[in-house]
Amino acid sequence: CGIVGYVGAQSALDVVLAGLKRLEYRGYDSAGVAVLADGGLATAKKAGKLVNLDKELSARPLPAGGTGIGHTRWATHGGPTDVNAHPHLDGAGRVAVVHNGIIENFAALRAELAERGHELVSETDTEVVAHLLAESFSSCADLAEAMRLVCRRLEGAFTLVAVHADEPDVVVGARRNSPLVVGVGEGEAFLASDVAAFIAHTRAAVELGQDQVVELRRDRITVTGFDGRPADGDVRAYHVDWDASAAEKDGHDYFMLKEIAEQPKAVADTLLGRIDAAGSLRLDEVRISASELREMDKVVIVACGTAFHAGLIAKYAIEHWTRVPCEVELASEFRYRDPILDPRTLVVAISQSGETMDTLMALRHAREQGAKVLAICNTNGSTIPRESDAVLYTHAGPEVAVASTKAFLTQLVACYLVALYLGQVRGTQWGDEIQAVVRDLSRIAGAVERVLHTMQPVRQLARTLAQKDTVLFLGRHVGYPVALEGALKLKELAYMHAEGFAAGELKHGPIALIEEDLPVVVVVPSPRGRSVLHDKIVSNIQEIRARGARTIVIAEEGDEAVAPYADHLIRVPVTPTLLQPLVATVPLQVFACELATARGNEVDQPRNLAKSVTVE
Ligand code: G6P
Repeated sequence: CGIVGYVGAQSALDVVLAGLKRLEYRGYDSAGVAVLADGGLATAKKAGKLVNLDKELSARPLPAGGTGIGHTRWATHGGPTDVNAHPHLDGAGRVAVVHNGIIENFAALRAELAERGHELVSETDTEVVAHLLAESFSSCADLAEAMRLVCRRLEGAFTLVAVHADEPDVVVGARRNSPLVVGVGEGEAFLASDVAAFIAHTRAAVELGQDQVVELRRDRITVTGFDGRPADGDVRAYHVDWDASAAEKDGHDYFMLKEIAEQPKAVADTLLGRIDAAGSLRLDEVRISASELREMDKVVIVACGTAFHAGLIAKYAIEHWTRVPCEVELASEFRYRDPILDPRTLVVAISQSGETMDTLMALRHAREQGAKVLAICNTNGSTIPRESDAVLYTHAGPEVAVASTKAFLTQLVACYLVALYLGQVRGTQWGDEIQAVVRDLSRIAGAVERVLHTMQPVRQLARTLAQKDTVLFLGRHVGYPVALEGALKLKELAYMHAEGFAAGELKHGPIALIEEDLPVVVVVPSPRGRSVLHDKIVSNIQEIRARGARTIVIAEEGDEAVAPYADHLIRVPVTPTLLQPLVATVPLQVFACELATARGNEVDQPRNLAKSVTVE
């Protein structure tokens, strides 16, 4: 969810709504605002995207005021209805609260409130907080103190922002786990889940730490722990160095199209300064010493969604170039199976946002077991890198579309860098190959650019498939995770049944799905290098074609052997086998984006999803 708070001389409603627009990537099931005005509290909330709230506000304007809060929601407790939308109020309508996270003991608190005669109207855990805050405020008459008292009673992960009609110039926030950042202006102050919400007003930011409460007034910001102790030395003040325009569409119809187009630059930026003139890798920022890296006897990668697919590809690279065993696991599964970890395990946590709760919990578990954690992350100063031993940033720039594209390619680049660096530090038999791959990697942005210039036939093809129900994706070796990613993109964007398989596994079951004219996308490895793989997949293509499949083949330029079996042939530039995902993924992104458009879906904000999922 996305949260915004404001206190100052501007119209709080305008500031909050503009901020919510910037945070819609965090969820868009419903949205709401509360403004303090005329001694009271006025709220508006609406299911669906922000436009619905805008319409509601035009039909039923709120009185003007300088203090307000807002929320854009990704539903957890209770469906995305008007009633369940935030803010939530206490019974008397004096307190308004917005919330990100889950309050795990809410059922017990709710029962307790009911016993004391409180009537709750929504199904959310948040409403409980509004009632508890009102009770505490009635005894201490200080909203920040009331917030501290309430937070000490809450279990789970939560970020809260509240206002009270009796303290009209105050906004109070509390943070446990998901981020909350203060924006410090002149005679005004902002509070948000992400600096993007207030970057148009101020670049001076203060990030709250764990278990802290902030009281915002026009001219003063006071931070304490949940226990009331001042926390001034414990907060991180910084200057935001990107500007608001980095998050604009730049003439593209969708952020996703813009972000696909930005991939060559994102890839180049992620390599920048990390390969020296002699072709050696320089990752000084990875603050885990070379001797520690030499001691590592296992690598474990944890991630979710698209980042998990980057991890699957990294496994091939790490094991090949370093000969260190590497496991890849969905972050949400990791800690619950009691994984074997020790100080000689290098855990790599991959996350675009740096806020995904599943990944954060996995890395905390790893560190508790003594493992060293290296984050691969796109968001400066976010929680995952801050809690890791070291971080390698991907320099993709802000990614707004929910479906990850440029962040994925840069995660791949970062994974290759880590694999090659481990190989370099440890000295492996692949020294010469590593040198050659580093050279290829430094030219790869150009190859991605070339793919982008040949996408018109892919778009046309996608349009012809808009009425299909199912698309299958096949790959072998690193092409297998590419197939999984292609299928995920199609699910996310086109809402089609899409599945990725290891091509060799086809004959063990999935081949039963093949029927006349079923589109099957096949990612074909290079005929050079591991040519045996290439030949095996050409056989797989023949097997499915013999059973009626319509084959859509992604193959390297010059690979003629596969051409006779391709109903549609998509060419990608020649690359070393392990780097092929950097070029082979791009047509699949374009394919999914075009199918989504053809089916009338919302490209940047697919249904039910959120870009940053901050609950477990
Ligand atoms: C969400 C998004 C996915 C993303 C995943 C991991 O589920 O919808 O697109 O891949 O989170 O996000 P992260 O920020 O950790 O890379």
